[in-house]
Amino acid sequence: MALRAVLPQGALVSSNALLAVKDLAAGYGATQILHGIDLSVGETEIVAVLGSNGAGKSTLNRTISGVLRARRGSIRFADVAIERERAAAIVALGLVHVPEGRRIFPNMTVRENLQLGAYRRGKPNRVANLERVFGIFPRLKERHAQRAGTLSGGEQQMLAIGRGIASSPRLLLLDEPSMGLAPAIADLIFDSIAALHREDRVTLLLVEQRVAEALESCDYGYVLETGRVVLEGTHRTLTADDRVRRAYLGM
Ligand SMILES: Nc1ncnc2c1ncn2[C@@H]1O[C@H](COP(=O)(O)OP(=O)(O)OP(=O)(O)O)[C@@H](O)[C@H]1O
Ligand SMILES: [Mg+2]
Repeated sequence: MALRAVLPQGALVSSNALLAVKDLAAGYGATQILHGIDLSVGETEIVAVLGSNGAGKSTLNRTISGVLRARRGSIRFADVAIERERAAAIVALGLVHVPEGRRIFPNMTVRENLQLGAYRRGKPNRVANLERVFGIFPRLKERHAQRAGTLSGGEQQMLAIGRGIASSPRLLLLDEPSMGLAPAIADLIFDSIAALHREDRVTLLLVEQRVAEALESCDYGYVLETGRVVLEGTHRTLTADDRVRRAYLGM
């Protein structure tokens, strides 16, 4: 179902945004996927990126985190131009990407996986970071010595998110944290994301297929279609929008 027209009242022009993406274009080989994306995330906000399969959500995340090179446009994070930076330098600034599909190290234990996350920024408070993750996901604490590859799907997703949290991010990009999980486990993941936001004031850019839950928890959202922002607004604006209700909320 086609969504058109960007809502004019939706334009969030925040000059002191933690993340500001302007006119961003990116793609693979000869194929351009993102066609001029404008998006911003204010400090301590949760911003949702919605859109159907293939809309370009993961491509957007990859470009912001430096895994994929921007072809045009700018990306500023904490007042640093990062569109030409390497992924490792972007992580060091505190912009941490938890990609789709639970990229954990299966032959390492839960604790070792988390230590890798905590180690990345060479922070002195590594122990505190691990305790923080165990506080959010007690299941990981119980299973800290288990090989990560033998965790259940939901536990592996907790570990992937936990590794992001362990690096004390300023901005966490989460790509479909609920993918492939049973509703009860997905709810648990959403609750822990909400807790992380509430208690640690971590800024979040959240890509989700579970639009109802994502809209519920976000301050602001963007709807992508074929690599363009076709709609944006506060969660109230988006949940009230007929096109969002029809296309994404099944109403
Ligand atoms: N490495 C790649 N090489 C070529 N094309 C790619 C590559 N990765 C993604 N694409 C294409 O880019 C388009 C956008 O993909 P992307 O993964 O960004 O979509 P998405 O919105 O995250 O979708 P989903 O909800 O299914 O995860 C798709 O048409 C996809 O086939
Ligand atoms: Mg994706």
